[in-house]
Amino acid sequence: MNQPVRAPRKPHVIVADPMPVRYARGWHVLDKASEFNTTPRMFEAFGQRLAAYRGDIDGKVHVLDAYCPHMGADLSKGHVHEDSLVCPFHGWRWGADGVCNHIPYAARIPEKAVIGSWPVLEENGLLFVWNDPEGNPPIAAQRPARMEDCFSGEWTDWTMTQVPIDSNCRELVDNMADMAHFGPVHYSRVKRFVNIQDGHRYIQEMQGGHEILEDGATGMSTTAIYEGPAYMTTTMTGSLYGHPVTVHLLVSHYPVHMDRFIINFGVMMKKDPALSEAVNQDMVAKYTEMSVASFIQDVEIWNNKVRVGNPVLCEGDGPINMVRKWYSQFYMDAADVPAELVKRKQHVTL
Ligand code: FES
Ligand SMILES: [Fe+2]
Repeated sequence: MNQPVRAPRKPHVIVADPMPVRYARGWHVLDKASEFNTTPRMFEAFGQRLAAYRGDIDGKVHVLDAYCPHMGADLSKGHVHEDSLVCPFHGWRWGADGVCNHIPYAARIPEKAVIGSWPVLEENGLLFVWNDPEGNPPIAAQRPARMEDCFSGEWTDWTMTQVPIDSNCRELVDNMADMAHFGPVHYSRVKRFVNIQDGHRYIQEMQGGHEILEDGATGMSTTAIYEGPAYMTTTMTGSLYGHPVTVHLLVSHYPVHMDRFIINFGVMMKKDPALSEAVNQDMVAKYTEMSVASFIQDVEIWNNKVRVGNPVLCEGDGPINMVRKWYSQFYMDAADVPAELVKRKQHVTL
C-alpha cells in the first residue's frame, strides 16, 4: 500500500531584529548614590566615556562627557575644584553645566569650550542618569517613584552587585514576559502570571514558589515594575530559615555599547525587629548571595543566546511581543510614540 508522501517540514529561519541605532530614552542607574564623592569616577556608558563626581560646594553628583575637547584628556582622571572638574592635562575647569569657566593661562575662554552635561537624579539611594538621543530634559512623568522604605531605618541599605553582560540590553527586558523560563532557569514554580503595560511602566505580577529563595512554607509572590527602559524594582515576600522575609530587588542596567551592558543588581531587606542587627545583616547577606546565584542563571543564557526577532511561540509563553512593543517606545522620538504602546493593557498568561 502506498503511504501518503508528507511534505518535509522546513526549519524555521531565525531572523534577528536589526540592532537599535540609538540608546533608550530614560533614567538609568549608574550605582548607589553613596558611591559618589569628590574623587571623579569613569563610566563607559551609552557608547561613550563619562566622568561622574560630587561637587565640593553643592554636594550634588554631576555627570559630564569625559573627553576634554581641548586636547582629549580624560576628565575622570582629573580632580574636583568647588563644583567644577579640572582637566589633568592643561588645567581647564569644566562647570557642572559643561561650560568651561576657567583656563589657567588664558584670559578669554573660547565660545566652543562646552561639553555634554547629563541630567542626574538622586533617588532611593541610587544615582540615575537621563539619556535622551533628542537631547531634551527629563520627562517629569517618568521620574522614578520614591520608595519610602529606602529612607526608613526599618530596612537595610542596598547591597549592590554589578553584572556585565555581553549582549544588547534589549534581551534583558524580554524576561518580564518570559513565564516559561522561570522553571528551567530559576527553579520557580509559577502559579499565576500577569503582565500589565501602562505608559512608561511595565508590571509583572507573579505568584508561585522558589526552590532557592524560600523554604516552601509560604510560597512567594512578586511584583516587578519597570519604570522606563532600564529601572526595575521588585518586591518579594517569602521566607528564609522559617522567617517571613520581605525584600526589594533592583535590576537596573545601562548600556556600555550596543553589545554590552551592566546590570546593577541590588537587594534590600526589611529588618526583623525580633532579631539582632547582626542576624538581620547576616540574613540580607545570605539572601543577596542566593538571589545573585539565582539571577546569575539568566546571565549564562544571555551571554550565549542570539536575538530571535520572529520567535516561534506557543500557548503558555508570556506576552513576549507585547513587552517588546512596549519597550520600543524608548527608541523613538517622544513625539512619535503611538498611543497603542502606552495605553494600559493587561495580559493574563496563567
Ligand atoms: S586636554 Fe583638557 S585641558 Fe587640555
Ligand atoms: Fe530571569
